[in-house]
Amino acid sequence: MSQAPFASNEAVLAALNWRYATKQFDPARKISEQDWKTLEEALILSPSAFGLQPWKFLVITDQATKEKLVPVSWNQRQVADCSHLVVFAHPKTLDLDFVDRFLQRTAEVRGVPVESLAAYREMIGKSLIDGPEREALGSWSRRQTFIALGNFLTSAALLGIDACPMEGIVPTEYDRILGLDQRGLATCAACPVGYRAETDKYAQLAKVRFEPKDLIEYI
Ligand SMILES: Cc1cc2nc3c(=O)[nH]c(=O)nc-3n(C[C@H](O)[C@H](O)[C@H](O)COP(=O)(O)O)c2cc1C
Repeated sequence: MSQAPFASNEAVLAALNWRYATKQFDPARKISEQDWKTLEEALILSPSAFGLQPWKFLVITDQATKEKLVPVSWNQRQVADCSHLVVFAHPKTLDLDFVDRFLQRTAEVRGVPVESLAAYREMIGKSLIDGPEREALGSWSRRQTFIALGNFLTSAALLGIDACPMEGIVPTEYDRILGLDQRGLATCAACPVGYRAETDKYAQLAKVRFEPKDLIEYI
């Protein structure tokens, strides 16, 4: 049986047109516990290649920590004025231990013996861990992590929550301030979320996108 749409065509497009990279947050407005739990789950539900989830999401609500990150975010105030700041980080490398942790979890969730996943383990081992990207598994994880960022942005928009995806940061300084380096993690992006300030003129700007014909080709 096919699934009825969860949202109308109009609702999806309205949310995607409403969202914009928020330049000014209203520091007085905080995301409710219920909305935050939904966004947290959206992060967790993000898809990744092989299902490996090579990421860590750091959620910062402590004001002093948020302020500390402003100077290493090209002085962009969004990181301090938002309700929740999410830092998207990824492991600097991956090994079979990481894969085994994922397979253990798969076995637990699906109620199957871990041995039944041996062929999958071998496939991931051959094609990823010892595959063509073996020298660049950090960069592979980083690419996966951006998928979670995209998923997060869309989910926030559907809830009427503002966000600003940010690469305008100094990732190594984030790693230092948040103690990620010693945990084998590296920052790739930040995403403040909350509610736009009424004074943010960027909210009124027309979206600049190439013509559909320049972006989409039907074959
Ligand atoms: C990965 C990524 C990094 C970005 N970094 C920043 C940033 O550091 N600061 C900022 O204000 N906007 C940043 N943006 C927002 C883009 O400039 C914005 O998404 C783009 O201009 C399209 O506008 P819209 O998102 O408002 O539709 C970033 C967007 C992405 C996807």
